[in-house]
Amino acid sequence: MSTSSEKHSISEQLATHYQAMRNIHMRDLFMHDKQRGNIFSRQFSELYIDYSKNLISTETLDLLFNFAKASSVENSIKAMFNGEKINVTENRAVLHTALRSPVDKNLKVDGVDIIKQVHSELEKIKQFVVKVHEGSFKGWTGKTIDTFVNIGIGGSDLGPKMVVDALAEYRHANTRSFFISNVDYQSIAKLQKEINPETTLFIISSKSFSTQETLMNADTLKKWMQKSGCTDINKHFIAVSNNLQATKEFGIDSENVFEIWDWVGGRFSLWSAIGLPIALAIGFDNFKSLLAGAREMDEHFLRTPMEENIPVILALIDYWYSNYFDAHTQTFVPYDESLKFFPDYLSQLFMESNGKSSDLSGCKIDYKTMPIIWGSTGANSQHAFFQLLHQGTQMVPVEFLAPLSKKGESKHHALLLANCFAQAQALMQGEDNTDLHKHFPGNKPSTTILYSELNPKTLGSLLAMYEHRTFVQGLLWQINSFDQWGVELGKKLVVSIHENLISDTTNKEMDSSTKKLVELYKKARQ
Ligand code: F6P
Repeated sequence: MSTSSEKHSISEQLATHYQAMRNIHMRDLFMHDKQRGNIFSRQFSELYIDYSKNLISTETLDLLFNFAKASSVENSIKAMFNGEKINVTENRAVLHTALRSPVDKNLKVDGVDIIKQVHSELEKIKQFVVKVHEGSFKGWTGKTIDTFVNIGIGGSDLGPKMVVDALAEYRHANTRSFFISNVDYQSIAKLQKEINPETTLFIISSKSFSTQETLMNADTLKKWMQKSGCTDINKHFIAVSNNLQATKEFGIDSENVFEIWDWVGGRFSLWSAIGLPIALAIGFDNFKSLLAGAREMDEHFLRTPMEENIPVILALIDYWYSNYFDAHTQTFVPYDESLKFFPDYLSQLFMESNGKSSDLSGCKIDYKTMPIIWGSTGANSQHAFFQLLHQGTQMVPVEFLAPLSKKGESKHHALLLANCFAQAQALMQGEDNTDLHKHFPGNKPSTTILYSELNPKTLGSLLAMYEHRTFVQGLLWQINSFDQWGVELGKKLVVSIHENLISDTTNKEMDSSTKKLVELYKKARQ
């Protein structure tokens, strides 16, 4: 049987199976199988993944594993790790896994030993971080640097910001970190009130060094520093980029530029020099532990059979809901304030990767791909949007995340976790009531991920798990998870609209809606 007819046949079997599963209540599944919680859960190092409160049976997973096999998931995983150019629309390898690879690994891309490149850049990061922390890298007045400001957007912001916040407990001495991403001047105005120009280091993070928001923010802050008396911008600005010509034109000496490569996608880049703000915030050793945690997950993902492979299992369940239960959205709820930026990071990771409607060969897709990803911390979300999860008309698979232990008052932690577990249980079991207003149908799917504590290594494993899950989803949908052409049109149109906003004339060819918006802006400026 050809691969596509095999996939078609498994899809039909899944469709038939869905008709049976949609009428089964999870309450009954738990009642009939006392081992369900054990059967549908996996332990990986410090992570415990419980996917038993999902609308699945052993048969569901068997069919889904068959579908993954017919989708060549195992071969594609190997192809990614081996540096094959799986990002076909950009003709690039996809090697964020190489960023956390051991030094003795042998991997070449276009004849270049990239492991050597990675480790020499890591060494450069280490030297720089040590220099800043021990105080030998000084500002223009000779003062020690104690404040780091990352200027970047998208993948050059969301990952590092999330990790720095998540690992705040590991912060080096009395340093502070800020993240400037939006081009809204309000963020810069607020920042300027909080920082001392003499002791601040700006990291311009932009793979392309052509992202308008980042370049405008960097330019404004450079001018502000010069106005504040800074005589040598190389004592206060460093850059992380793939565009060494542009960083030079900005005025940054090559020794202050940290390189990333075209085989690192923005949303997968926190392990590269884009993670420099992380290393500065928590120290190089902790940054290495983050990489080590990711490497452990990489090994698991590469070498574990699909039936035991955590990113594969989770991606298959995602596929099951999106393509059979017609779930349009999925929510991620960390019961951990340290992960408050995690849902934003995941939104980019999943949606920029898999929000596509053409397949690998450029044909239009006639099935659903990525649902909308959103979320917020628990228990706050319970008092905001959980009403819809319990009694709304849409199916919204939920993912709970929580630490088993956390520093501080243990009575708070116990209540926090009790809320997390109670929500998962309530969503699953529901409660009958003849008054429909008070009736909880239950049978609402959720997955619960517990980690022993949020440390650099565990976080590294957790993040790598989500990266790999994203990749497997793309394989099931037959799409390229590593390009993002959908963001380009907006970037192009902003140029001419911006010109219209700041010039006296307005382009008459513009559609009537946009023209009116432009005119209203101009009128407000008069
Ligand atoms: O929004 C599109 C995008 O290209 C993202 O993929 C990327 O993470 C972000 O912009 C920032 O890009 P750069 O690092 O090149 O400034």
